Amino acid sequence: MVDELVSEDNAFRVERSVQSILHNQEANGAIIASPDFAQYHYCWLRDGSFCAYALDLAGEHEASARYHSWVNDAVAGIADDIDGVIAQHERGEAPDRLHMPPARFDLDGSIVVDDWPNFQIDGYGTWLWSLGQHLELAGAAGVPEHLFGSVNRVARYLSAFALSPCYDVWEESGDDVHTSTLACVYGGLVAAHRLLGNIDYQTSAERVRARVFDDAARVGHFVKSSANDDVDGSLLWLSVPFGVVHPADRSFAATVTLIEDRLGLDGGIRRYTADVYFGSGAWPVLTGSLGLHYLALGDPQGARRCKDWISDHIDQSGRLGEQFGGEVRDPKHFHEWIELWGPPAQDLTWSHAMYVVLSIALESFEDSDEGKQSLPAMDSKLTSREEGTS
Ligand code: BGC
Repeated sequence: MVDELVSEDNAFRVERSVQSILHNQEANGAIIASPDFAQYHYCWLRDGSFCAYALDLAGEHEASARYHSWVNDAVAGIADDIDGVIAQHERGEAPDRLHMPPARFDLDGSIVVDDWPNFQIDGYGTWLWSLGQHLELAGAAGVPEHLFGSVNRVARYLSAFALSPCYDVWEESGDDVHTSTLACVYGGLVAAHRLLGNIDYQTSAERVRARVFDDAARVGHFVKSSANDDVDGSLLWLSVPFGVVHPADRSFAATVTLIEDRLGLDGGIRRYTADVYFGSGAWPVLTGSLGLHYLALGDPQGARRCKDWISDHIDQSGRLGEQFGGEVRDPKHFHEWIELWGPPAQDLTWSHAMYVVLSIALESFEDSDEGKQSLPAMDSKLTSREEGTS
């Protein structure tokens, strides 16, 4: 299937990345974040939902469907907890932040009992977005009956906690409201509106979008968080895939320039300026996101540079790590993290996912008649946002 979508020289690498994701999927549908890094022997909603999207683009709809069923079961397993925190919120009470629905689950779908900073709502938004893409790309008529309960529950959870401070997509700074988290929540709420036909979720999504623009209006570019006016590589998701802003929006263009200037490292993109995790190398996940932004602007050369940077980091055995260059950029912190957790992840399923997504998007862009068609399911969203851009 992949062969039809990407040219021959590329097809081998892309197919290998698709196989890596499939190989790291359990029979029950869970996708491990990394097989070689003990801290990542779990399934994150964030990583897994991007992986499922990559699988759908590669035509692996059955594997993606299994992932979504796994999320459905994991969410069903904590249904009472989710209903409980929503009820508390509705009563005006603040739920115990230590016992919010988790960012990651054990591979069997159970909760991991430890001190991980679990209150991260972005993954729940990314899941609904990814499910929406799956159903569209797989040609489904609507939400399958067995998923309905969890879709409904997660949509209510997102709507209730959309603007609450929580840990960010890097699992840090739990007291702030993070713009890229809002992007994921927006994507999830827009999907919830489409999937459930409930306009209230679109209204919640617009509230989230307004908050994102309010924060940007103060400084002329989108900001990392309510407490930090710097940029963050994950702000790239505001345009692709979540469609909060049009790719050519003026504040967004300023944001991308800052990301390239402040976070560029040897052709790749780091997470944020003050990052120290494994010396803060450049991440395939973020470099792939920059490539998707270039494509959305109609710049296949920019996208190709990003794609080539990623493929240059795939090793002989087909592994693609989490980040590259930290040991040279900041050896002190790189070694501190090695002492704590051992070497960084050498093979990260989310990295493979972004490589697959960018490669397929670039190829379909170049093959399309108008020269500007990239990802079918995403494109409809980008078009609709164009009307609303500020
Ligand atoms: C990253 C998260 C990611 C997790 C698993 C963490 O280091 O900050 O974004 O979900 O690893 O890959």
